[in-house]
Amino acid sequence: MATEHWRSRIGFILAAAGSAIGLGTVWRLPYVAGTEGGGAFFLIFLVLLLTLGSALLLTEFVLGRHTQEGAIRAYKSVAPKGQWQLIGILGMVSAFLLLSFYSVVGGWIIAFLVRSLGGQVTSPPDGDYTALFAAITSNPWEVGAAHLAFMVMTILVVQQGIRKGIEKASVYMMPALFILFAVLVVRSLTLDGAWEGVVFFLQPDLSAISGSTLLEALGQAFFSLSLGVSVMVTYSSYLGKSENLPRSAWSVILLTILIAFMAGLVIFPGVFAFDLQPDEGPELIFTVLPAVFGELAFGEMFFLLFMILMLFATLTSAFSLVEIVVAPLIRGKEKKNRVKMTWIVGLLIFAMGIPSNLSFGLLADWTVFGDIFFNQIDYLVSNILLPTGALLISLFVSWKMRKVDLREELLRGSQRGPMFFNIWLFTVRYIVPIAIVVVFISLI
Ligand code: PFF
Repeated sequence: MATEHWRSRIGFILAAAGSAIGLGTVWRLPYVAGTEGGGAFFLIFLVLLLTLGSALLLTEFVLGRHTQEGAIRAYKSVAPKGQWQLIGILGMVSAFLLLSFYSVVGGWIIAFLVRSLGGQVTSPPDGDYTALFAAITSNPWEVGAAHLAFMVMTILVVQQGIRKGIEKASVYMMPALFILFAVLVVRSLTLDGAWEGVVFFLQPDLSAISGSTLLEALGQAFFSLSLGVSVMVTYSSYLGKSENLPRSAWSVILLTILIAFMAGLVIFPGVFAFDLQPDEGPELIFTVLPAVFGELAFGEMFFLLFMILMLFATLTSAFSLVEIVVAPLIRGKEKKNRVKMTWIVGLLIFAMGIPSNLSFGLLADWTVFGDIFFNQIDYLVSNILLPTGALLISLFVSWKMRKVDLREELLRGSQRGPMFFNIWLFTVRYIVPIAIVVVFISLI
């Protein structure tokens, strides 16, 4: 049994939305949309978020709240026979590996933030933003220290526990994130030539949709909602029995969509107003945005704001990734072991991230299966481990849990009827697994 619970419903929603909203939404979504045809990609992403994504989010909520257990025990308590806890262990390994490279980008954000405090980002020597990005990310001491700082910030919050750590930090950081974003949206939309970017981002050109758009969008939808790792199982295990799960899931999804919209509305108008390329790839926000902000009055300040909000978004996701690994390891000895275990796990994740970090500098020439280490770990986690986890969780919950329990968990406190339950169950039993298998087959 989870010993700690969220203080309030809104605290849970902000923490879960904090896990969902992160680099995936603010950094990856815009650049993938930029390379996959803009509005068409975004539209499919939204549809998938609202259908398969929401069904799977509810599935993780149902399992966590029903069992009141974290990644390993949740599976064991539903099916004591067999090795079902391996799904939870897979989630812990995925979270560990995911945060190992995710925290590297967290480090870049801190490095850019510090540099921009010194006024160096929006006006680099020779106006060469790509060279600045390369200089920062290839400097092992600078990004190494920033990477470590990012992990220490994460540890300092998670070691405080659910209420005093994760919930409290999320309750401050998430509203701040929305306010900072709103300021930047206004700035971006009032640029001359902003409209072209809005059109690129929001007008779906349906002819741009290909098989690969669909696949990318499905992966992006799961990644954006932190699905397949049992993070949402763990967070909902700290929920009280009276909570209305569909309502909480909708709140998390709507907040994620809102931020995804805002991220696009900050980035694309700027890109088009200054004649830059939207399909720049992962460097988009680190090379294009400084160039955009560099042209504006108080540009450095706006860039700094953007980095602060990126830092908040990234940290609240990192909390959930550390928590899912720590929670099962300290079960029953929460008070005694949390601090120690959080430091051990956090520092091990940092160590695991070092080769990813050096992939842009000292180890740039070292390739594993033909690509740098960072990209390969990203690929392994995002395209293989997360979808596998999502597949197993959907099958486990929909086939192994008793139907009465599923119905009871899903509908308690909610006005919805049997029809809602049946549609959800059908989606989780058949549609989600089939969609994931199709994605896998097409990857091969
Ligand atoms: N949802 C986060 C993002 O979009 O950046 C990434 C993530 C966090 C994925 C936690 C999975 C996870 F368990």
